[in-house]
Amino acid sequence: MRVLGIETSCDETGVAIYDTDRGLLADALYSQVAMHAEFGGVVPELASRDHTRRLLPLIQQVLDEAGMARTELEAIAYTAGPGLVGALMVGASTAHGLARALGIPVLGVHHMEGHLMAPMLEASPPAFPFVALLVSGGHTQLVEVQGLGRYRLLGESVDDAAGEAFDKTAKMLGLAYPGGPQVARLAETGDPGRFRFPRPMTDRPGLDFSFSGLKTHTLTTLRQLERDGELDEQARADVARAFEEAVVETLVIKCRRALDDTGLKRLVMAGGVSANTRLRERLAHEAGKRNARVYYPRGRFCTDNGAMIALAGALRLLAGERDEVGSMKAVPRWPMETLAAPAGG
Ligand code: KG4
Ligand code: ZN
Repeated sequence: MRVLGIETSCDETGVAIYDTDRGLLADALYSQVAMHAEFGGVVPELASRDHTRRLLPLIQQVLDEAGMARTELEAIAYTAGPGLVGALMVGASTAHGLARALGIPVLGVHHMEGHLMAPMLEASPPAFPFVALLVSGGHTQLVEVQGLGRYRLLGESVDDAAGEAFDKTAKMLGLAYPGGPQVARLAETGDPGRFRFPRPMTDRPGLDFSFSGLKTHTLTTLRQLERDGELDEQARADVARAFEEAVVETLVIKCRRALDDTGLKRLVMAGGVSANTRLRERLAHEAGKRNARVYYPRGRFCTDNGAMIALAGALRLLAGERDEVGSMKAVPRWPMETLAAPAGG
């Protein structure tokens, strides 16, 4: 089945064509990051308008890349949530309109299920069951995954998501949006021995996370340095390093616990923060000690993209799932644990 995937939940317009026999045929992405950077974060109305501008040309681009005519598409998958409702509606209405015109099935996909399935785009995909660490701008979750739509939430952030903490820390350090990659870059020149930031909620049992206290700790440290006249470039790098170390170690401790609790030997990481090199290295090291293996998608499939939506949609479409004609879905808040396995899946 050749599936067109459409992602418009936030600030990236992603489109791809996934063939369930041949794999990924084409994918294209337009990032609005430069447009939102000026405002220090995503402006929802601007995001929706820009998706409207970019989406149809990107669909044509992937068709050309795949050497396909529109009429050769067999189904369409789009992100139905969670995300910015106006942005989601652009993808949803385009998908439904196109599907209606072509007379093919269409399905709204859960954005985080897309992230979760993204490692399956790679050459040696993980087999079920596995533990998944989902770390994006809006989510920090540990999930036990028995199969598509068979999820048990093990733990999640009680306040800020890991990516959000990176973005807010970047702002405090005067770095541009989105902050994750910038904080990581600055941290490279930081001295890991100068500051030690707290590892929130690691001293008690359980798999929940909290990152807002860490953010406050970062702010307090920066203010103190400023008062002491010591806030130079090296100090900023040292703070970035201490922050990154704290987030990474907190995530690693909880992943280790999740592997031990479930007895599983596969760990999948997905979402924007899974692009973080230090996190990847530390998790691979810890997993190695337990004879476990870590799986993650290539860099550009860690952050939002159309390929993961095409793939996750294809798995459900193959099982016969589809939206009813004319009932497009755009759901800003949509807990992933409410998803079910496809009938007969
Ligand atoms: O999955 P994603 O593209 O969008 C959401 O669904 O939220 O994740 C974006 C998040 C942002 O918060 C960004 O700062 C973070 O992922 N991020 C990183 C890195 N690359 C992206 N955080 C830490 N280190 C990175 N290398
Ligand atoms: Zn995402």
